[in-house]
Amino acid sequence: MSDSGVKTPGWDAGHYHQAFGFIHRLGANLVEQLDPKPGETILDLGCGTGKMAAEIAARGASVIGLDSDPAMIEHARTAHPGLDFVCANGEAFRLKQQVDGILSNAALHWMTRPQRVIGAMARALKPGGRLALEMGGHRNVATVVEAIYAVLAEAGVPEAKWPRPWYFPRLGEYCTRLERGGFEIAEAQLFDRPTPLDDLEDGMADWLRMFVRPFLAPLPPERHAAVIASVVERTKPSLCVNGRWLVDYRRLRVLARRDVS
Ligand code: BEZ
Repeated sequence: MSDSGVKTPGWDAGHYHQAFGFIHRLGANLVEQLDPKPGETILDLGCGTGKMAAEIAARGASVIGLDSDPAMIEHARTAHPGLDFVCANGEAFRLKQQVDGILSNAALHWMTRPQRVIGAMARALKPGGRLALEMGGHRNVATVVEAIYAVLAEAGVPEAKWPRPWYFPRLGEYCTRLERGGFEIAEAQLFDRPTPLDDLEDGMADWLRMFVRPFLAPLPPERHAAVIASVVERTKPSLCVNGRWLVDYRRLRVLARRDVS
């Protein structure tokens, strides 16, 4: 999902759904932590193709899946015709009714104006309502980010023009923002989660083609494949061990409640 003036990568929702299922699998126990119950309404913020929304619904809760990308929402509606999906900006959305819980997995780092997102989440939640989120944390995929900027520099793109489409906050920074925005933190963790790309036929190249399109904006399309190939070469010595890609993900996971007063 993406918002905030940073153009969305133009998601290939079908390929994402089929090959990037590991993102959903790795975040799956967030649903358990949120613990949706029959009779509740839960918002899945940055729902992508709707896999987690379907899990929430399977627990008997009503679910609203929200994503800013029309292709993701179209895919979610087709895959889960009984569920409610909304195409809206995560930094500015308003729901018709307040919900009992919000879950967000691997989406909030695409929204680079966190205070707006937190404001929208606080508006959407009932007082005492639960929030369970996981996103990239400080130095998430740092080897990849450093390689991308090195390749952009080599290609002659000045630093002032390097795109910054991802927001990977420190634990204290994000918790402070949440507290200022009307949430009480119950649990918060920042942890390493080296993530294998075994599901991807073309490993890191496939991962880059899915996710780094916003970084390529300063260069003409005919140069994009060469940039991706250079980033693969630069990251290989540290992230590819015995032919297996393991990306240096770092996750920020927070459980919180909206303040009662
Ligand atoms: C993440 O889930 O941490 C992530 C995925 C793609 C690009 C950036 C971050």
